[in-house]
Amino acid sequence: MSYKKKDKFIINGGNKLYGTITVQTSKNATLPIMSASLLTTDIVKIKSCPDILDVQNMIKILKKLGANVKLENCDCIIDSSKLKDICVDYKLCKTMRSSIFLLGSILARCKSASLAMPGGCNIGKRPIDIHINAFKRLGVKVVELNDFIFFNADSAKAGHIRLKIPSVGATENIVQFASTLKGKTEIFNAAREPEVVDLCNFLKKMGAKIYGAGTSKITIFGVDRLKGVEYKPITDRIVMGTLLVATAICGGSIQICGANVNQNKKLIEILSRMGCQINIKNGIINLSRDYSLKSIKTLSTGYYPKFPTDLQSMLLVLSCIVNDITIINEKVFENRFLIVNELKKMGAKIDIINNHTVRVNGVKNLVANKVKALDLRGGASLVLAGLVAKGNTVVENVHLIDRGYCHLEDMLKSLGADIKRI
Ligand code: UD1
Repeated sequence: MSYKKKDKFIINGGNKLYGTITVQTSKNATLPIMSASLLTTDIVKIKSCPDILDVQNMIKILKKLGANVKLENCDCIIDSSKLKDICVDYKLCKTMRSSIFLLGSILARCKSASLAMPGGCNIGKRPIDIHINAFKRLGVKVVELNDFIFFNADSAKAGHIRLKIPSVGATENIVQFASTLKGKTEIFNAAREPEVVDLCNFLKKMGAKIYGAGTSKITIFGVDRLKGVEYKPITDRIVMGTLLVATAICGGSIQICGANVNQNKKLIEILSRMGCQINIKNGIINLSRDYSLKSIKTLSTGYYPKFPTDLQSMLLVLSCIVNDITIINEKVFENRFLIVNELKKMGAKIDIINNHTVRVNGVKNLVANKVKALDLRGGASLVLAGLVAKGNTVVENVHLIDRGYCHLEDMLKSLGADIKRI
């Protein structure tokens, strides 16, 4: 990412989208896999890492811990044989919530770890109590002091953990920690997201003994040692979804290669119901939208395999231009409607019923305005709004979008959108 200082997009809306695009590697799979690379003293090669800010920040964190990290083209080569620190950098922790995943791997490797309360998108309270309680269940000593938390795993023991919510991050943390913890650890109410499964596949390739990934019960038998591997994480279902919704919003016809369609079943079902024509063949997905769209009436997010919260704001934008009322229920995070006030500046009619529910009254056209990204996915959704609005929309703060999208403007430009970074 060489143009971080150009922090705005200018979009001249109205173009339909046409073309073929290959979807990037998943951010939410790559980051925990980078963290898990600390579980071995051998070299790990993570292939086709996405060129996004969160990966760059994770590289900085790993280097500060003492790992030697190189990027060769897009392959990330991590040698953590000389790890020298157990404290995750304060500033980086604050910019990226994924820093929390490092706890499991640093603790497993060094028996102690410390980090600042993690940051990330401003989409809700995002506490870390589930992570902390799970570690405590395994005998890890936890001390909170001011803004820092200190962990010690000298007397940790394998055991049973029941998560009160199927937290993706907590599941990933415990899976990493338990991979080399002597004995049998069971996680009940585990997250089933494809990114959790991918992390487990990576760990299994390293030699971990993990059973049940993708179900609500994951069992891990700790092994003495994990070995270095080469691994290519899965493609990004949220980026794929963003591109599909962009085409549903703008009209046109796109073809996405390299996407795992099964991981976006709910979205595909919804877009079909709304009137998009979707064909899937040999892992290639075609979406065309020629006519006006029908409302889905209500949409609720949920834990996988339910509709992903990370695609909620894109569907919110889509609902803004459908001639009907749509109720959107956000069931995973509170405060995930930061985008609403920005969309209102573009002529959208949305009522916030409460922190979890909005009522969208579709309008004929959105109109261009100057708007600001306030979180990663909401920011990308404002870009989608700009693609269909009449006139020149300016989206500010696009470094938040760069956290997870590999040059979103280039992807959209290649499909015929009129968008540039300024
Ligand atoms: C991950 C994803 C994020 C996605 C989210 C839900 C990454 C890097 N990020 O985030 O893109 O939106 O899953 O699919 O993979 N919670 C607690 N206490 C905790 C942990 C979580 O109350 O200790 C709550 C959260 O506030 C939230 C819910 O549990 O309401 C789910 O959060 P979680 O699954 O942990 O999300 P992340 O792992 O942070």
